[in-house]
Amino acid sequence: MCEVSIQGVESTRIKRLRERFAAQDQEHVFQFWDDLDAASREQLLEQAEAIDLPGLLRGFEAALRAQDGSRRLEPVRVEALPESGGNSIQWQTALERGEALLADGRVAVMVVAGGQGTRLACDGPKGAYPLGPITGRTLFEQQAQKIRRLRRRCGQPVPWYVMTSNATDAATRDCFARAGHFGLPPEDIFFLCQGMVPSLDLAGKLILAAPDRIFENPNGHGGSLLALQDSGALDDMARRGIDTIFYYQVDNPLTRIGSPTFLGFHAQAAAQVSCKVLRKRDPAEHVGVVARVDGRVGVVEYTEIGDADRNARDASGELVYWAGNMAVHVFSSDFVRHVAARAESVLPYHVSLKKIPRLDERGRKRIPDAPNAYKLERFVFDALAAAERVCVVEARRSEEYAPLKNATGADSPATARRELSAQYRAWLEAAGVEPPPPACIIEIDQSVLDGPEDVRALGIRRVEDAAEIIRTAPGDEA
Ligand code: UD1
Repeated sequence: MCEVSIQGVESTRIKRLRERFAAQDQEHVFQFWDDLDAASREQLLEQAEAIDLPGLLRGFEAALRAQDGSRRLEPVRVEALPESGGNSIQWQTALERGEALLADGRVAVMVVAGGQGTRLACDGPKGAYPLGPITGRTLFEQQAQKIRRLRRRCGQPVPWYVMTSNATDAATRDCFARAGHFGLPPEDIFFLCQGMVPSLDLAGKLILAAPDRIFENPNGHGGSLLALQDSGALDDMARRGIDTIFYYQVDNPLTRIGSPTFLGFHAQAAAQVSCKVLRKRDPAEHVGVVARVDGRVGVVEYTEIGDADRNARDASGELVYWAGNMAVHVFSSDFVRHVAARAESVLPYHVSLKKIPRLDERGRKRIPDAPNAYKLERFVFDALAAAERVCVVEARRSEEYAPLKNATGADSPATARRELSAQYRAWLEAAGVEPPPPACIIEIDQSVLDGPEDVRALGIRRVEDAAEIIRTAPGDEA
């Protein structure tokens, strides 16, 4: 009796779903239904029911159309560093304003760590990559150290929101648990998992990865703004009196997490969202460009900018579009709510061609030898266009940017470790401490020393006096 009614419910569900999918010409995802056991049927039903098919297909069509559109670019106003013409008094005021925000407990930090590190060729989550030049500390541990220092400096919990994806969630939680949350109170760490989105083949059809599974990928870091809302993270922030979110990517070990100056510029401008930019190394560097795009502040990806704009120079020979996107932002939490409620229009999908293994008519897995499908993703910086007030702040490359993208060559572990070590050397020099010989590498425990001022404040005169905090080793790591 019970068995019969469960089957009855299942057959109503599949009937409805088949109709819904057939209406969009996607009924092929049920082609192996008759061969599936109960558990596989349930899995497919649940996955298919969760897909907003009309929304997905509308977004896909719009993304394909947007690929052809040309966009009008203009340079954006940037709060320049004092050495590039900015006003040093304004930088000091911003610093004080940001420190006050932190001291009032109004700031949370958020890392997006849902990407799979394919280019880096690492197995687990990118955040578990052992980057410490001497200790092999992971990126997550380095970040936790900075957050611990920040908490002590401002006397507030500064909760850490860690966005994962299906691909990284379990391994990330495990990494934190095994490391005792890196010395942070677990109640101040909030994991949230971003959503998934199906890929579509060249004919706009969903792809079967298995007889009971539609192929999906993480929905892009733009999904973070939805995940903040859907996971209850924004409500958690509201309960804690937080209205400002410092957002960063997991893969830049030089990120100044919770930088008071950046937070202060954001607050002074009463901005809804702010961006950190750095001067592009050369026109071809793989960073997006922050610019006015058809009149609104936005980011044009390095894959999408036209050659004329990419290479344009002004009379003094400077790149016109020099403002490289570091993917470090400050968001006001009200603005995140606003965006999450309008995701379809504010966070459109972008498409990229990929090779995606799929089942053939007989259920055999086929590995394509040419791109056969579009991966869809939302980009967080598309939210900029929905803001009335955006603040853009310049950063020094040597102090804030050494991304970890590739296994070798540019932006690799070797370059990131070298930059990190160079930064520690510069801190020691600035604090009047003689650094080890140039051939040595240096690693500093940033939960104790997070800048030259900390070196001075602790009265460290010689590297040997702080052996546990400042490590040195012969430099053959590159
Ligand atoms: C990105 C930016 C680029 C910027 C550069 C700075 C995009 C499209 N472009 O390029 O404008 O100049 O960083 O380093 O992002 N992630 C998720 N979930 C996802 C996808 C990505 O959490 O679904 C996270 C990754 O874990 C990583 C970050 O987003 O922390 C960046 O992703 P990645 O694809 O490596 O971006 P880039 O192409 O390097």
